[in-house]
Amino acid sequence: MAKIPSVTLSSCGDDILTMPIIGMGTSSYPRADPETAKAAILEAIKAGYRHFDTAYSYGSEQDLGAAIAEALRLGLINSRNELFITTKLWASFADKDLVLPAINASLRNLGVEYIDMYIIHWPFKFGKEVKSMPIERDLVQPLDIKSVWEAMEECKRLGLARGIGVSNFTCKMLEELLSLAKIPPSVNQLEMSPAWQLKKLSHFCKSKGIHVTAYSPLGAARTKWGDDRVLGSDVIEEIAVAKGKTTAQISLRWVYEQGVSIVTKSFNKERMRQNLDIFDFCLTEEELEKMSHLPQRKGVTFASLIGPHDIVLEIDAEL
Ligand code: A2P
Repeated sequence: MAKIPSVTLSSCGDDILTMPIIGMGTSSYPRADPETAKAAILEAIKAGYRHFDTAYSYGSEQDLGAAIAEALRLGLINSRNELFITTKLWASFADKDLVLPAINASLRNLGVEYIDMYIIHWPFKFGKEVKSMPIERDLVQPLDIKSVWEAMEECKRLGLARGIGVSNFTCKMLEELLSLAKIPPSVNQLEMSPAWQLKKLSHFCKSKGIHVTAYSPLGAARTKWGDDRVLGSDVIEEIAVAKGKTTAQISLRWVYEQGVSIVTKSFNKERMRQNLDIFDFCLTEEELEKMSHLPQRKGVTFASLIGPHDIVLEIDAEL
């Protein structure tokens, strides 16, 4: 079984919270049926994954919960404590009075008593419960970060979340959050890949002790918002051939060498194992240099999930 390094997260008080560097993403597009998702998660546990990333909005919390129960029954793990579970506060519940009910709903979906990392999914809120996209533009409203973060802090104080963090937050948003937080965010989960390098934002996070976790490190291949800029890159392919690795492994290794952890999704047994096998080689200075000049995506694309009413958040990335 693969051995995966861990990172110790800051801002967790007396609790020493260590997170495996590679997590399995459970968001699938189009959405996998629950049995397929559960089987893939069990396969991932067998392969050595111990960090799982889900979100209320992915609809995969229940699949993960079912897989955890089955893994315990089968003896693949001895206790839920062996796993690191991240889930996210959906934008419809990004309101001070809705945070506690939301985390409790996620805990019920997962069938666990605590979440390892609870993060604010998006830096805005929706004006009502949104179950499908696209939504009307005026339902997207600013987040009252002070009151929502206080409720996130309460989740930690109550022991419902061991750590709290954010996702898709820019430098400016983080400055504001840091100015008012009693418990600073441990993590900022960001879309990051060789084709979306986020140099300025990731350096900023590092300077503030906020750990970055990269989602879509393979460029969200085969989704409607991603593209093959990463997996189809000739430059990465050339490095992969020289090293006897795949383009996916070179891309994941590049992310890891930025001091960043990774959540990547594969429901395919061979590819999910391949994605853990990145710790037996290093990229050379020359290879890193070549990769630093890869064509970058223009603009902010995570907002394209919202469909024709794209919200363009100015992620202050140095492209
Ligand atoms: P699949 O589940 O069929 O393996 P990202 O992590 O950037 O969001 O990318 C996820 C996409 O990349 C999924 O569609 C996944 O498909 C695919 N993928 C994951 N790992 C690999 C790999 N090692 N090689 C090729 N494609 C991969």
